[in-house]
Amino acid sequence: MFDLIVKGGVLPDGKVADIGIKGNKIAAIGPLDDAEAAQVIDASGDLVSPPFVDPHFHMDATLSYGLPRINTSGTLLEGIGLWGELKQVMTQDDVVDRALKYCDWAASMGLLAIRSHVDTCDDRLLGVEALLEVRNQVKDYIDLQLVAFPQDGFYRDATARQNTIRALDMGVDVVGGIPHFERTMTDGAASVTELCEIAAGRGLQVDMHCDETDDPHSRHIETLARETQRLGLQGRVAGSHLTSMHSMDNYYVSKLLPLIAEAEINVIPNPLINIVLQGRHDTYPKRRGLTRVKEMLALGINVGWGQDCVLDPWYSLGTGDMLDVAFMGLHVAQMTSPKEMRTCFDMVTVNNAKTMGLTDYGLHVGAKASLVVLDAGDPIEALRLRAGRLCVIANGSVVSQTPRADASLTLKGRPEMLRRRHNSGDQ
Ligand code: FE2
Repeated sequence: MFDLIVKGGVLPDGKVADIGIKGNKIAAIGPLDDAEAAQVIDASGDLVSPPFVDPHFHMDATLSYGLPRINTSGTLLEGIGLWGELKQVMTQDDVVDRALKYCDWAASMGLLAIRSHVDTCDDRLLGVEALLEVRNQVKDYIDLQLVAFPQDGFYRDATARQNTIRALDMGVDVVGGIPHFERTMTDGAASVTELCEIAAGRGLQVDMHCDETDDPHSRHIETLARETQRLGLQGRVAGSHLTSMHSMDNYYVSKLLPLIAEAEINVIPNPLINIVLQGRHDTYPKRRGLTRVKEMLALGINVGWGQDCVLDPWYSLGTGDMLDVAFMGLHVAQMTSPKEMRTCFDMVTVNNAKTMGLTDYGLHVGAKASLVVLDAGDPIEALRLRAGRLCVIANGSVVSQTPRADASLTLKGRPEMLRRRHNSGDQ
C-alpha cells in the first residue's frame, strides 16, 4: 500500500515506469499494476523528472522591479547601485513577502531546490534575517540553501568582512565572494584565499560570483581552483558566471580548464543574465559573454545553468522557469545537437543537484519523493515547448497541479518521430 503512485510516466532516460511513494520517500519504481495507493496521478505518456534545481539566485532582491526606480542603462553596475538604494528603504517584512511569493512561483514551476545568495553588506543583516526565516518557512517543499554574499566587496566595503562572518554564525550555509569587484586584482585574489580558508575552517561549501566581467584579464577562477586544491575543498566549490573566460586568450584557457577540472569546481553560467549584461561596452561585434560551456563539459567539469534574477534591479523579466533558463543557454552556447539539447535538461536538474550537494535527489528508491510531471514526451520536447508543469510533488505531497493547455495538443508532436530523429542524429 503506497500513499501515492505516479502512473505510466516517461522517465528522462526514456523508460516508462510507475513510481510508488511512501511518506516522503520513493519506495518503488517499476510496474505497480496491482498495487494500491491512497492517491494515484495518471502520468501516461508524460515526462516525469526529478525537480528543477536553481543553484544561483538572489531571493533578497527578487520581485523588487521598479523599487525604488528602474535600471535605465541596463548594466550590472547600475544594477548594483540601484540595489544599494533599495537596501536603504526595504524592510525585513518586504523581503520575506517577496521571497515567499517567489517560492510559490518556483513550486508551481517544479523548482524545488534553490541556492540563493544573500547580501551581507548591511550592518543590520536584514536580508539575512529575512531569508533565514523564509528557509524555515518553505523547508517542507523547497530546499533553500543560502550563500553569504558580500555584494559590495569583502574588502572594498568597510564592514563586509565582519558582517559576512556574522551571517555564517547566524546559520547561512555557503561562503560567497565577488573578487572581480574588489579594488585591485591583488585584493580580489586575497579575498578568494581568505574566503576559502573560512569555508574550510567551518566545513562549508564555497560559491563565488567570479569574473563576471568582459575583462579577459579577470582570472580569479584560477586562484579559486588553486585554493580549492590547497585546502582540500574539491567538489565543494562553485564558480558562478565566469564570463571573462569568453574573452580570454585561447592559450591561457587551454591551461586553465584542466586546473578547473582537477579542482572539481562546479560551474554555474547564468545565460539569461549573461546575455543581457555582458558586452555592454562593446560596439560591434558585441560579445555574448557566456563562459565556455561546451569546452568545460567536454573535460568532464560539472556545469549547470543558473537563473540569477527575476524582476529585480538587474533583470526585468523572469518567471522562475528553469526551462526558460536552459532554453536561453542552449541558444547562446549553440548546444543544438540532440545530445547537447539533452544535456541542457540535465544542466537544470541533476548537474545542479550535484553542485548543491543534494544527496537524496533523483528518481530512485530511497530518494526524496519530489518530482514534476511535464506536458511533454521527453526532455528535448520539454525544452522546445517550455512544457507545462501538470503536477508537482514535493516530499511526497502534491503541491501544484495545472490543467493541460489546449495549445499543447497542437504543438506537441508525434514524440515517436522526434525520438527517432534525436536518436539517429549527431550524438
Ligand atoms: Fe548573481
